[in-house]
Amino acid sequence: MSLFRKKSVEHMIAASAQNAGLKKALGALDLTFLGVGAIIGTGIFVLTGTGAVQAGPALMVSFLIAALACGFAALAYAEFASTIPVAGSIYTYSYATLGELAAWIIGWDLMLEYGLATSAVSVGWSGYLQSLLSGFGVSLPVVLTAAPGALPGHETWFNLPAFLVMMAITALLSLGVRESARINNIMVAIKVIVVLLVIGVGVFHVTPANWHPFMPNGWNGVFGAAAVMFFAFIGFDSVSSAAEEVKNPKRDLPIGIIASLGVCAVLYVAVAAVVTGIVPSAQFANISHPVSYALQVVGEKWVAGFIDLGAVLGMLTVILVMAYGQTRVIFAMSRDGLLPARLSRVHPKFATPFFTTWLVGIFFGLIGALVPLNVLAELINIGTLAAFSMVSIAVLVLRKTHPELPRAFRCPGVPVVPVLAVASCLFLMVNLQAVTWVAFVVWLLIGMVIYFGYSRRHSKLAK
Ligand code: ALA
Repeated sequence: MSLFRKKSVEHMIAASAQNAGLKKALGALDLTFLGVGAIIGTGIFVLTGTGAVQAGPALMVSFLIAALACGFAALAYAEFASTIPVAGSIYTYSYATLGELAAWIIGWDLMLEYGLATSAVSVGWSGYLQSLLSGFGVSLPVVLTAAPGALPGHETWFNLPAFLVMMAITALLSLGVRESARINNIMVAIKVIVVLLVIGVGVFHVTPANWHPFMPNGWNGVFGAAAVMFFAFIGFDSVSSAAEEVKNPKRDLPIGIIASLGVCAVLYVAVAAVVTGIVPSAQFANISHPVSYALQVVGEKWVAGFIDLGAVLGMLTVILVMAYGQTRVIFAMSRDGLLPARLSRVHPKFATPFFTTWLVGIFFGLIGALVPLNVLAELINIGTLAAFSMVSIAVLVLRKTHPELPRAFRCPGVPVVPVLAVASCLFLMVNLQAVTWVAFVVWLLIGMVIYFGYSRRHSKLAK
C-alpha cells in the first residue's frame, strides 16, 4: 500500500494559502505571455522542416492534430492547476492524488522532458545562430556545427554553439538570474513579430502548386509528423507552475493555459501553410533553419536575417524556462526525500540550487552537442505525452476521491474530455518510432530501480 501513500490535498491547499512569501502579481494576460514565451521555439522554427518532409503541406493538419491533443490535456491540466495552486507542477499534483509511485514516475518523466527540451532547443538555437552568422560571411568549422550523424554527407563531431549557449544559460540560472516578466514580454513580442513577418511576407511568395500533392506520404506521414510537432506546443504547462504567483489562480490559470495554446496553434498552422507554399516540402530535408531558409530561397535576404536574429533571441527564453523547470522539479523531488538531499541544497550566497543547476546544465549541454535533434524531439514527446495522460487520469481520480474540493475551473465533459486526452496522447505516442519507445522504457526502468533501491526508503512521507 505504501506505493500509493499520498500527500494530503487539504494540507497542500492550506500551505499555498499561507504562502505569503511569493508576490501574487500575475494576471491572465501575463500568464498567456508566459505560456507563449515558453511555447514558441525550436518546434516551429526548426522541426517544421522535418515535419514538412514527412507530412508535406498537410503539415497544417499535423499541427491541428497535435493542438487538439494538447487542448484536451490542457483542459485537464487547468482543472488541476486551479484546484491545487502549488508550485512544482504536475509532480506535486500527482503526489497528492495518485500517490508516491505515480508521482515518482511523473517526476522522473518530467526530468527527461525538461532536461532534453533544453538540449533540443539549444540545437535549434545553434542552427539559427549559424544562419545568422553566415549572413555576415562567418562560418564555423563543419565538424563543430552539429552532433555526429546529424548532417548526412558531412563529418560532424560536436555542436559547439549548442553547448556554449547551455553553459551561458546555466551560469545565469546558477547565479539566480530568473527571467523577469518584463524580459519575457519583450521576448514574446520579438517572437510573435518574427512569426507574423514570416506569414505576412511569405504569403506573397506562395505558389499554390507547391501544395500539391497535399499528403505525399498519406495519413501515416501526417500522423507521424503530428507526433513530432507536438513538441512545438510543449511549454503551455509551464503556466501552471506559476500558480503561487497568480492573483486569481482559479480564473486566470485556465485562461492563460488555453489562450497561449490557441494563439500558438493559429500561428503554427499559418506558418506551415506559408512555408510549404513557398518551397516544395521535400526541399526542407536537413535544413537546420527551415523558416528563414524559405525566405532566403525567394530572395528576401533581409527578412530572413531578421527571422534568424529574432529566433536566436527568442529561443533563449525557452531554454531558460525549461532549465528552470528542470531544476525545480529535481529540487521538489529531493526535498521530498525521493532524490538525495544534496540536490536540493541551496547556495548560501546566490540562493539557488547551484550544484543541481550545473550538474544538469553540463549533462544536458553535452547531450545537445552530441545527439541529433529529431532523436531528442521524439524522446521529449514520448515523456511528455505519458505525463499528460497521467494528469488526465488524475483528474478523474480526484473527482472520485475528492468530489467536494472547490474547483473554480472544472474540466468540461468529464469523463469524456479526460478520456479523449488520454486517447489522443496515446495515439500520438504510438506514432513515434520504435527506438523511441525502447529508450523510454529503458528510462522508466532506470527510474524504477532508483525508486525501489533508494527513494522508497528515503521518502520523507514514509517517516
Ligand atoms: N515548444 C518549445 C519549442 O518548440 C519546447 O521550442
